[in-house]
Amino acid sequence: MNPRAPGRVLVFGAGGLGREILQVLRDIAASGRSAECVAFAVDPGMEAPDMVHGVPVRRDAAAMLRADTTLQVVVALGNPAAREAIVARLAAEAGARFATLLHPAAWLGETVEIGEGSIVFGFSSLTADVRIGRHVLVNPGCNIAHDCVLGDFATLAPAVAMAGGVRVEHGAELGIGARVAPRLGIGRGAMVGAGAMVIRDVAAGATVAGVPAREL
Ligand SMILES: CC(C)(COP(=O)(O)OP(=O)(O)OC[C@H]1O[C@@H](n2cnc3c(N)ncnc32)[C@H](O)[C@@H]1OP(=O)(O)O)[C@@H](O)C(=O)NCCC(=O)NCCS
Repeated sequence: MNPRAPGRVLVFGAGGLGREILQVLRDIAASGRSAECVAFAVDPGMEAPDMVHGVPVRRDAAAMLRADTTLQVVVALGNPAAREAIVARLAAEAGARFATLLHPAAWLGETVEIGEGSIVFGFSSLTADVRIGRHVLVNPGCNIAHDCVLGDFATLAPAVAMAGGVRVEHGAELGIGARVAPRLGIGRGAMVGAGAMVIRDVAAGATVAGVPAREL
């Protein structure tokens, strides 16, 4: 699958991130590649309008996926644990296939690896030998230097900057504008606050914030 030409996509989640992903798909299509948001999907009991920006909001994601094997899913939930739960559910219920999305204005070096279901928004740069796991979210304007590794379900808010050799473990989250000094580790499920400057390793599950970042 070509992440710059994802084809027909069902976007799970119809909130702000869902609308941003719709725009990514429309920008990919405008660049002349195959990309279409067929529908948004939400859980049956969830409040949502019937249409968002001209796209229908459905409540039968699993049935849609079972009926149409060409359809791929993007999960538009910013919270890593919520995203992981939905990915597991749609895979189990409907054998879901997940699209990987690269905005046409994202800059990726040719040695960058990116896993299934991950999304890289425009104006982010991933330079040399960066490894991105599955279902990772890289919001606009992130700078990820050489040899960084982002584990599955990691989430970078806009304008996160990472020096070389940083390792972000499974499901860790970095808030808007957070920065990380070279070769540090951000532990599994950790939270780095908006605007933080990380200068030491962050333990699994810890929340840190501030300049320099300290545990809250
Ligand atoms: C770090 C964070 C997770 C803490 O959230 P929280 O556990 O609810 O913490 P609280 O809001 O109760 O604040 C606890 C203390 O930490 C301070 N604090 C919170 N966030 C901070 C931050 N980013 N930088 C510095 N200090 C911060 C608060 O001022 C407060 O200090 P006090 O006890 O002296 O009053 C959150 O503030 C944050 O930065 N989230 C990232 C949001 C973001 O970027 N989202 C991306 C959307 S795309």
